[in-house]
Amino acid sequence: MIITKQKALPEDFLWGASTSAYQVEGANLSHGKGPSIQDIKKVPEGTSELDVCADFYHHYKEDIALMGEMGFKTFRFSIAWSRILPEGAGAVNQEGIDFYSNVIDECLKQGIEPLVTMFHFDLPAALEKKGGWSRRESVDEFVNFAKILYENYGDRVKYWLTINEQNMLTLVGEMIGTCNLEGVANKYKKLYQENHHMLLAQAKAMKLCHDMLPNAKIGPAPNISLVYPASCKPKDILAAQNFNAIRNWMYLDMAVFGKYNNLVWKFLEEHDALPDIEEGDMEIMAAAHPDFIGFNYYSTATVEWDNGEVREAVFENQQSGGSEPGVFRNFANPNLPHTEFGWEIDPDGFRATMREIYSRYHLPMIVTENGLGAYDKLTEDGKIHDSYRIEYLRRHIEQIKLAVSEGVEMMGYCPWSAIDLISTHEGMVKRYGFIYVNRDEFDLKDMARYRKDSFYWYKKVIETNGADLSD
Ligand code: BG6
Repeated sequence: MIITKQKALPEDFLWGASTSAYQVEGANLSHGKGPSIQDIKKVPEGTSELDVCADFYHHYKEDIALMGEMGFKTFRFSIAWSRILPEGAGAVNQEGIDFYSNVIDECLKQGIEPLVTMFHFDLPAALEKKGGWSRRESVDEFVNFAKILYENYGDRVKYWLTINEQNMLTLVGEMIGTCNLEGVANKYKKLYQENHHMLLAQAKAMKLCHDMLPNAKIGPAPNISLVYPASCKPKDILAAQNFNAIRNWMYLDMAVFGKYNNLVWKFLEEHDALPDIEEGDMEIMAAAHPDFIGFNYYSTATVEWDNGEVREAVFENQQSGGSEPGVFRNFANPNLPHTEFGWEIDPDGFRATMREIYSRYHLPMIVTENGLGAYDKLTEDGKIHDSYRIEYLRRHIEQIKLAVSEGVEMMGYCPWSAIDLISTHEGMVKRYGFIYVNRDEFDLKDMARYRKDSFYWYKKVIETNGADLSD
């Protein structure tokens, strides 16, 4: 639809940006924090360890002040489970409690609403050693952690997100360092059993949030990318439906309706991988409801039919989520440009994704990640000319405005990332922030903060509530 009459964004639109604890904080094995799975994994060759990152742990006041200067209405950050509970359960680390309490206070001081992710790829290593999410106990462990967060921060935090990209944990966990499938006989059985426990943990945490904090709002934060068929061949349409179900809808159907998606159920049955479900699980999930949907969007995915023949692997990256013989096969969309890191760029697909989520679930939505990773360069006079990032963000914000004009309820926009941090597997040199951190992959330099060109641009976008997107 060509829109000639645009609606303004809601007055209380939550402009902000995102980070995650293990990618930004540093101080990963100090101040009482226990190791998480991210701290014990082998980092990809040529990339930095996660011990310093952007050193947000020591710079949070300065960083949140810069976010305040940009006019942020919200800041999405995650809480490291093993900073609060070094062993994942049991003794609480008071220093960890105090750290996030200070972060929250600092946000409020700047007029910024904290948007807290409870779990972002960093399961405590002590729990992983016992079997992690594959154990039934993991459900209560997560709920216990959530309860501690509500008790300590519920007086000040109104917006909560449960699990970041649970779908990516299931689909590409090995790539982001959250699982090891070596020697596993049936990977689907393992992954979807873990997934079931996470879904149950999420449902219980949402219910507990509503019981303990009646004024708070809580939602999931999967990575949702509409899946296109490679052509209008009927079989490609079926393949796209398969992958849409596996990649996207299963997670939101569960969060919102508490029902397993029928296509995913069949897929699991075909792989002898139906999860063990205990009596009462489905009732718990059906009774829990999110108040909104948070979702990360980087680009769409495209697939074609796969007749099950073994063929050479084709286009695959973190967003695509792999291929499944007989179910779908990834396809490089020839209509889309790419970032320097090979990620497709698709602002129209962003609108298509917003429309589709809204028409399925009819809940308000907040974009919890979207952004462009690039090799930014600091000039001699302390500038970072990231016009490519401005262009990327502008084109995505334009689509939010169009979607809102079409009646889609959007609550806010939090691009990735507020500040430069370490990428999931491509190191420090893949920068996303509005704020530049002066360090290289291995040379920590002085860690000074610089405002990129996108910093000033985003400030104006926020000031005008998205009306002025010009340079
Ligand atoms: C999302 C994650 O998948 O994408 C973030 O939630 C991540 O943790 C972001 O950093 C960008 O991916 P990458 O691999 O470029 O860091």
